[in-house]
Amino acid sequence: MTLTVALSKGKLIAGSEALFRRAGLPFPATGGRRLVVATDGLRFLFVKDMDVPVYVEHGVADCGIAGRDVLLETGGDLYEPVDLRFGRCRLVVARLAGAAAPPGSTVRVASKYARVAAAHFQERGITAEVIRLSGSVEIAPGLGLADCIVDVVETGRTLADNGLEAVEEVAASSARLIVNRASYHARRDEVARLIAALRAASTAPDQVAPERSARA
Ligand code: PRP
Repeated sequence: MTLTVALSKGKLIAGSEALFRRAGLPFPATGGRRLVVATDGLRFLFVKDMDVPVYVEHGVADCGIAGRDVLLETGGDLYEPVDLRFGRCRLVVARLAGAAAPPGSTVRVASKYARVAAAHFQERGITAEVIRLSGSVEIAPGLGLADCIVDVVETGRTLADNGLEAVEEVAASSARLIVNRASYHARRDEVARLIAALRAASTAPDQVAPERSARA
């Protein structure tokens, strides 16, 4: 039976394709609209980034590629054998440049990473009202929805263009290979071969970080 790989067409897609090609593994054309694509040897699912761990944990996919940022948010019982070393970014707290910490006792935080944000402020003994958004969170402070955001920063351009500055790092992130725990045991040989191929490709000396402009 063919192994199934869950991927997101978000910011990790160019790095994922480069990795599979370096590993000599099949990879489908990413321009199409089909979300389940069988290649010669592997089947691919294209889903939202936060859903990659869901498909893998539930065994619909045997493995997947997800950012550590996403894995911190979604949790889940997954095997995470390889740091794939691309898609490096940081989760940060950011607020309007030059703004002081809010005067009230509760900080309003907008984020796609609601659980990470809540845990971050709770660990610091700060009461936070977390407002979950689906994207474009950088506009929230300027429009008065929140005092600050917790979001991913890669180049810093989105923060700067929206008048924000990072004030605290929450976590560092990179792409991770994740594997369903049952597949890891039940399909040991095939999964081990895939892990070995991707691990070797992830440490290949010619690996270069994919440019952001290469995003799908
Ligand atoms: C991510 C993140 C920031 C941006 C940061 O958004 O949420 O908006 O990238 O990158 P930068 O520091 O290089 O500007 P993404 O494009 O993944 O989409 P989103 O709006 O769904 O979060």
